[in-house]
Amino acid sequence: MGMHKHTVVLIPGDGIGPEVTTAMQRVVAASGASVEWVPAEAGAGCIERFGTPLPRETIELIKEHKTAIKGPVTTPVGTGFRSVNVALRHALDLYANLRPVISIPGAGGRYDDVNLVIVRENTEDLYAGIEFEEGSSEALELIDFINEREKGSVAKDSGISIKPLSVSASRDIVEFAFDYAEQNGREHVTVVHKANIMKHSDGLFLRVAREVAADHGDIGFDDRIVDAFCMNMVVDPSQFDVVVLPNLYGDIASDLAAGLVGGLGLAPGANIGKAYAVFEAVHGSAPDIAGMNKANPTAQILSAAMMLDHLGEHVCADRIRAGVRAVYAKGECLTGDIVGSREGGKAPVTCIEFTEALASEIESLDTV
Ligand code: NAI
Repeated sequence: MGMHKHTVVLIPGDGIGPEVTTAMQRVVAASGASVEWVPAEAGAGCIERFGTPLPRETIELIKEHKTAIKGPVTTPVGTGFRSVNVALRHALDLYANLRPVISIPGAGGRYDDVNLVIVRENTEDLYAGIEFEEGSSEALELIDFINEREKGSVAKDSGISIKPLSVSASRDIVEFAFDYAEQNGREHVTVVHKANIMKHSDGLFLRVAREVAADHGDIGFDDRIVDAFCMNMVVDPSQFDVVVLPNLYGDIASDLAAGLVGGLGLAPGANIGKAYAVFEAVHGSAPDIAGMNKANPTAQILSAAMMLDHLGEHVCADRIRAGVRAVYAKGECLTGDIVGSREGGKAPVTCIEFTEALASEIESLDTV
């Protein structure tokens, strides 16, 4: 266990990022995994020194070492910089965003039987950032083009965001979802879309998904329209196994799913491409609690468990997950996002106290 030494690029990020990544390093060490961390920078703090929130050095380091884990970064509003996360996904072609949503008993979630994985397309859709500002010559040209062809009547004072979905990227993400299901003992894939309205984007996604599904007869398959899917998720999320969605629906559905099992403090994630992988929690930099030693590092820590699985260190990854379940089941040492709203509940502990409790829990698993 943990005999092989792995090198992983570590981006602490902004806000609560440094707190939760420090916690994550402590827990990875406690799991027995042998990881050498290569520090790299990204985020708001880089702009002054590098002129960009995503320095080229950081991308080069990830290309060199192949695997990275990052804390959340703040997207500066109104500075004209593209989101670091979107830029990183493009620079490294991280086309799949994998977000397991699994109930942790004791975490105060609304359901104790959720065990699903969201597979979100990561490069296209309204998220691709192809936009035309209201009143710009490009927007007006595009509006004329559309109106002349009687494709509709777009108001002259419209801003426009483009939604491209390609056959190739749709096939890649649906293939990824089926391969993931096969390799991880899962039985069913659900594709989510709005093909009845967006026939040439979501309709294409659904058509490609049906083709791919036909090649994977061992895995069950169905499709849901995104609005019905949201209702189904709230009523009975236990019915879902692997769920594959275009970028924007995947973004929204993962926060919805996180909310069903106890909140953003618990939801891990991974961005995976053919050559590189970058692990990160679903949550953002939480500026409202940054630097206060209040953050819940569980999501970052479970992201590290996914990273260890990716590196082949399944025993260490399982040990981290077992430790997390044990700490929540005991309920003695939990952060404010979890116990804050519980009537007559225990007082919240700090990020560091939670981390130490988890690390000792994991270390005590050794003696079992
Ligand atoms: P957020 O996820 O940072 O915070 C939403 C709410 O959840 C806040 O009340 C926060 O305190 C709470 N929360 C989040 N994570 C928590 C944790 N680990 N423990 C305890 N409470 C937690 O979302 P928000 O406020 O919309 O975004 C803040 C910044 O983060 C923005 O600049 C946004 O662009 C960025 N962001 C970055 C992401 C990334 O780097 N992967 C992902 C999402 C947002």
